[in-house]
Parts: sequence; C-alpha cells; structure tokens
Amino acid sequence: MSPTSSPVLLVHASQLLTLRGGNSPHRGTALRELGIIEDGAVLIADGEIVTVGRTDEIAKHELATKADVIDCAGKVVLPGFVDSHTHPVFAAPRLIDFEKRITGASYEEIAQAGGGIRSSIRGVRESSTEQLAEHVLRAFNEMAAHGTTTVEAKSGYGLSLKSELKSLEAIQQAAQRWPGTVVATLLGAHVPPPEYRDNPDEYVRIVCEQMIPEAARRKLAEYVDVFCEPGAFTAEQSARILHASVANGLKTRVHVNQLTETRLDAFTEFHPASFDHMDHVSEADIAMLARSDSVATLLPAANYFLGLGIFPPARKLIDSGVAIALATDYNPGTSPTTSMPFVLSVACTHMKMSPAEAITAATFNGACALGLQDRKGSLATGKDADIAIFEALDYRELPYWFGVNRCWKTILNGRK
Ligand code: NIG
Ligand code: FE
Repeated sequence: MSPTSSPVLLVHASQLLTLRGGNSPHRGTALRELGIIEDGAVLIADGEIVTVGRTDEIAKHELATKADVIDCAGKVVLPGFVDSHTHPVFAAPRLIDFEKRITGASYEEIAQAGGGIRSSIRGVRESSTEQLAEHVLRAFNEMAAHGTTTVEAKSGYGLSLKSELKSLEAIQQAAQRWPGTVVATLLGAHVPPPEYRDNPDEYVRIVCEQMIPEAARRKLAEYVDVFCEPGAFTAEQSARILHASVANGLKTRVHVNQLTETRLDAFTEFHPASFDHMDHVSEADIAMLARSDSVATLLPAANYFLGLGIFPPARKLIDSGVAIALATDYNPGTSPTTSMPFVLSVACTHMKMSPAEAITAATFNGACALGLQDRKGSLATGKDADIAIFEALDYRELPYWFGVNRCWKTILNGRK
C-alpha cells in the first residue's frame, strides 16, 4: 500500500456501481438501485473522490492528465464493503466447539459445557495488547483483500475491566496501522464471565459503572453493544447497559434475536444504530423497525457456520420496508470468515436476496449502520476514496463465485 501522492484515475470499468441516492438507508425496491455506469471512471485525489462518470467524460478533467491510471477493463468497481459487525479480538480458533457441533451438539449446549464465548476469555486475558493487535491487523488485512474498506470491531472476549480495555487498545493499535477505517465497539456485556456466573448483576454493574465510563473517557469506543439472549444478558440487564452507554455519550447497537425472540421495545429509547442477527423477530417489531432509523444487520455466515438450518427473514424485512445491512460477524465461535463476498453469496442463495440488494446492504446500508453514510458506502464527489475492484464483467458475479476471492484490488481512504 502506498499513499496516493498524485491523483489516481480508474478507467474503463465494465460496471461502476455508484450506489448514489439519498443519505438514509435504502429500503424496499430502492435496495435494487446500484446506480450503474458502464465504461465507468473514478478520479481520486487526497483520499477523496473528485468525480465519477463515464470514462470519456472523466478523462477530460484537468486532474486526469496528472493522474496515475488504473485500467479497470473487465472489472466491476464498487464502494468498498462496510463490514459493520465483527469480533476480531481473540487469540485462537475454537476447534473443539467446531468438532462438537459436527457431532450434533448445539451452540447453547457447547456454551453450557464450558465451550463457547467463555472458552475464548483465557487466550485474550493472557495475551499482550501487541499480540492481540497483530491478530486484529491480520484480520483487517484479510478483510481488505476481500474488498472491505470499513470495519466495525468489537471487544468482548476479555470480560474484565482490564482485558476489555486491552482489547479496545488492540483495536486502536491495529487501526493506526491499517489504511482503512475502523469503528470500535465495547462489548463488555458479551456474556457474564465465570467469576460472575452466580451474580451477573454485579458484572452488569461493573460494565455500567467502570467499563463504559472508562472506555468513553479514554475515547476507546464509539459504540456499546450487548448480547441479549438466554445465557448472556436479559432484556432488563441489556437496557441498563444501554442506558449507561447513552449517559456516557456512547452510541448503542444490540445483538438480539439470534437464538430466541426478545421484543425490541425494551431498547428503542436508546435509538440503537443497529439490531444485529434478527433471526427471530415478531410482526410487530418488523412494523416498528420499518418506521425507525435503526438498521437490522443480518449475519448469515453465522447461520451457515452453525448449521442452524434457518436464516434471518431477509425477504420479509425488505418487503416490509426495514433498512437492512449485511456483515460477516467475524468471530471464532460462530463465523470465522473475513469475506463479505461469501456473506453476499449466502444472502442470495439462502435468504433469497437479489445480488443488487445484497450489494447495497453490504455497502451503503452498512455505512448507515455505523452512521458513516456521509463519507462511506457510495461513490460520489467528496466521499472517501474507499473502492473495491473485482475481476468480473457483471456485479451479479460477486455473490455467484463463492469460496474463491475475485477481489483484484482495494483502495482504502485513497491508498492502494
Ligand atoms: O455474534 N452472539 C454473540 N456473539 C457472537 C458469537 C461469539 C462467539 O461464539 O464467540 C455472534 O454470533
Ligand atoms: Fe456478533
């Protein structure tokens, strides 16, 4: 990667997907509008997009003559993916859980037997910030190699004041060494750690009174997340955590409705940027979401990897007008993938999303789920130069080829 000291001009893209249109999440039929320009060009300078259009027009721009030219013939060019839900701060894969599931144990049974999230704690507590930062950076680089330019990164496997702050520091260190954009989230409330298993309310108190204020004071996180699910936190405990977040000036997002259904009215007062997973969601909550700005972030790679046999009801959500995003949920327990194109493929084949809907959900709507739609998620004058270039003639090839990486190049904040 090198900084773009001189302007850069991408030319002759078979299809340039601009995703232009509006400043709020695309819903319903608007999800299918990719704003395609054939024989497309993008001019970049100083990390920002100067202009986009047809190659013959853009080539006339005064900066174009001084630009380094990248020939994108035979390529699809689109905004870099915004992976708006990841858990990259862990030390080791969970291979025992993986094998146990293959022989029939469920995610919940494995967690109750000492596997699951709690089995990732030790590795994080025993690792240094630098060691964790290396892992995180490796994940960010792998993500970029698959077309991702913006990543939301959660803590959540330290589960003590010290180790959660260390996890956020690792995210910060990795972010400083990566040319893409990182949004950090405190997920101190992932599960109660073993030492508070019999007194989860005391752990909730520590999250609310120590972790959140400290993460906010040290500006280590922009968001707070909570895992609301039996075996993790109740809706009432989750609401307490979200309340503390807002009181400390941090924004909120919620893991909910992954394994069982919880009504969302307990959370609406905290205006979560996103409700994540949403495999189980009531008609009433779908209607509520359709009227709200909260995005429903669907994470089908987790369903695939856990072999759940069900997927989030994407069609119903889209057809009801809910704003949806797609993300990897990269983590060692339920979704060890850094590949957004794989997520698009699962969304199309198993959730019956069209390729265009999946691309919008993984770019512009992902940006909305992070409150970054002013800068990310579409290719337009003045926006950050975050661009993914795929070896393809047609955008439908992105979810079509699966299990292989057709990403040819990624430009992150103008760096290529
Ligand atoms: O989003 N659901 C909670 N958190 C992760 C899983 C974490 C883990 O199993 O390590 C998820 O699927
Ligand atoms: Fe998650």
